Amino acid sequence: MHKTLHDADVEGKRVLVRGDLDVPADETGRITDDTRLRTLIPTIMFLVERHAKVVLMGHRGRPGGKTDLSLSMAHVAGRLSEILGTEVRALDDCTGPIVRDRIGRMRPGDVVVLENLRFNPGEETNDARFAQEIAKDGDLYVNDAYANCHRDHASMTGITRFLPACAGLALEKELAVMRRVTERPEKPYIAIIGGVKGDKIGVIDTLITKVDYLIVSGVLANTFLKAAGKGIGGSKFDKETVGEAKRLLAVHGDRIVLPIDVRAAASYDKDARYLDCDLGSIPEGYLILDIGPKTIMYYESLLAEAKTVVWGGPLGVFEWESFARGTREVMAFITTTGAFTLVGGGDSGAAVRKFGLEGKMSHVSTGGGVTLQMLEGKPLPAVAALETAAKTG
Ligand code: 3PG
Repeated sequence: MHKTLHDADVEGKRVLVRGDLDVPADETGRITDDTRLRTLIPTIMFLVERHAKVVLMGHRGRPGGKTDLSLSMAHVAGRLSEILGTEVRALDDCTGPIVRDRIGRMRPGDVVVLENLRFNPGEETNDARFAQEIAKDGDLYVNDAYANCHRDHASMTGITRFLPACAGLALEKELAVMRRVTERPEKPYIAIIGGVKGDKIGVIDTLITKVDYLIVSGVLANTFLKAAGKGIGGSKFDKETVGEAKRLLAVHGDRIVLPIDVRAAASYDKDARYLDCDLGSIPEGYLILDIGPKTIMYYESLLAEAKTVVWGGPLGVFEWESFARGTREVMAFITTTGAFTLVGGGDSGAAVRKFGLEGKMSHVSTGGGVTLQMLEGKPLPAVAALETAAKTG
């Protein structure tokens, strides 16, 4: 078992908190969804109230080891200052003498944010020297970055070799929910995998052995429909995994649930002309942007019996009103079933909030990829690192 914040002596200490600071922003850099920052507030307040010096760190985007100021932490610090009602300063780097000097001058209760860790190539390669450099600026390391726990990176795993380490409050909460779903899911158990990332096909092999039904939507469904020989018009699908989708359908076809009708649009545009049609009658060149009304009813009839529902990825382009219906109606439906409902991932979380359903889900997780990895039953490197640190430290 790993250590928690409650096991740690933090009074007056420099505490390095690894958070999920990877928040979406518009082209001016303004943060468009600060949910991930808000999940860190309990840990930050816990530390501030105990007079720790809080040094937050994290990444934004995939800058590939190079500085990209559009992904700087300056906006994150600004938004955290607003949320906390006290100044949170952004430092210009994540290691080095200037950072060390600034941290050395912090007073108990101060909060600062290090610059994007992924500006340094050592973060993603899990370079031991880089991990050790970051560790020099703290007395304790707290991992509160659930969404990134599937990454074997310097600030997630490497650093635990150089500092006492424990889990933060948000991570604790996420892991407790995940344990409930992975160790003792109440049956029937249905997973819904949608969204735009076609590469989610990799998780199906394992996940299908744990659930009663796997509802596939989004771009991933297009790949399966293609594999099943159904017409998908001009819709996006993943050519490379059609073969794998065919194999999965051959072995698990009775439990992989695909749309039976769709809402197809003349172009990829929020105001595009559209129609609801059965598969097989999608007009030439039209794109599937949502599920259709028969599919909504079909999914609801399966979900009505479920005791556990895990949702990863929207069913259509829910951001556009014309294509939001499937996601909105099915999401609203599961909140009425009494099932344990777990929603994971940035887009699904945004959909839950857009439709005003946040308080009605059992849990809305900040993590997407990591949640899928947990549901597959694969260990998370960053949690394993905390466990090793607890044994050796
Ligand atoms: C996330 O934002 O989902 C995690 O932080 C992982 O980010 P990555 O996919 O860029 O590694």
